[in-house]
Amino acid sequence: MLDYDLEAARYDQTRGGVERARAAADAVLELVPKDCAVLLDVACGTGIVSELLRTPDRTVIGVDMAAGMLALARPRLGGTGRAVRGDATRLPLASGAVDAVTFMWLLHLVDEAVVAAAVAEAARVLRPGGVMVTTVDKDSAQFGMNTDVGAIMRAARQELAPPASDQAERVRELAAAVGLEAAGTARYVGHGQGQTPKAWARRLREQAGWARRADPARIAEICRALEALPEQDVRRPDPEYVVASFRLDGH
Ligand SMILES: C[S@@+](CC[C@H](N)C(=O)[O-])C[C@H]1O[C@@H](n2cnc3c(N)ncnc32)[C@H](O)[C@@H]1O
Repeated sequence: MLDYDLEAARYDQTRGGVERARAAADAVLELVPKDCAVLLDVACGTGIVSELLRTPDRTVIGVDMAAGMLALARPRLGGTGRAVRGDATRLPLASGAVDAVTFMWLLHLVDEAVVAAAVAEAARVLRPGGVMVTTVDKDSAQFGMNTDVGAIMRAARQELAPPASDQAERVRELAAAVGLEAAGTARYVGHGQGQTPKAWARRLREQAGWARRADPARIAEICRALEALPEQDVRRPDPEYVVASFRLDGH
């Protein structure tokens, strides 16, 4: 995982800024009941999405492990809300304390044991009838697009990457095991997330993520295929991300 303390200063501007955050928040709000009074945004990061989940009647609490990210989230969540340091697998909240828990762009970053523990923690802190909302299949959204880059990267992932930790079906199973039933999905455009072929080749050459464990000769071949595409400096269309919601047994 990236060092988010170092990433904090450039995070918002390199992840689509307020436009991406607004689209993400709107998708979450489609899935969170209107009367949700306390929402816990786990892995809130800089709080750029979290602050858009607030309403005059709703308190948003952000939790994140990275102090650098939290320093930016705190002013955004001040007033009725707060941003606190904590781990998704050991949330600093009482059982049954919140109406909704969100995980935006977290579950794809951690291994399956952490996903299972985080989902169980969400179930613990939710009141009966409360909802957990999470992004799923985050990385495959980048390559789900019908583009030349998408086709190369989709095939490369299938060949070389381990199964994603935030696969929708696996998250659904883990949620069901702790009493969280699937309750719906929404989608949003990851504004600013579409990348150029050159940028993808650079990421692979820098051994980002699964490329680190792959055969370097195979990675070099894939990079050459990306670098042979036309319009090397033209960003391909922004991906469309999926968020899924799960309701805790209760009513
Ligand atoms: C990609 S950022 C997402 C931030 C924010 N949710 C957003 O959509 O902009 C991932 C965040 O997860 C945090 N994180 C990673 N592992 C965590 C854990 N186990 N518990 C809490 N936060 C974690 C990182 O510090 C980072 O701020």
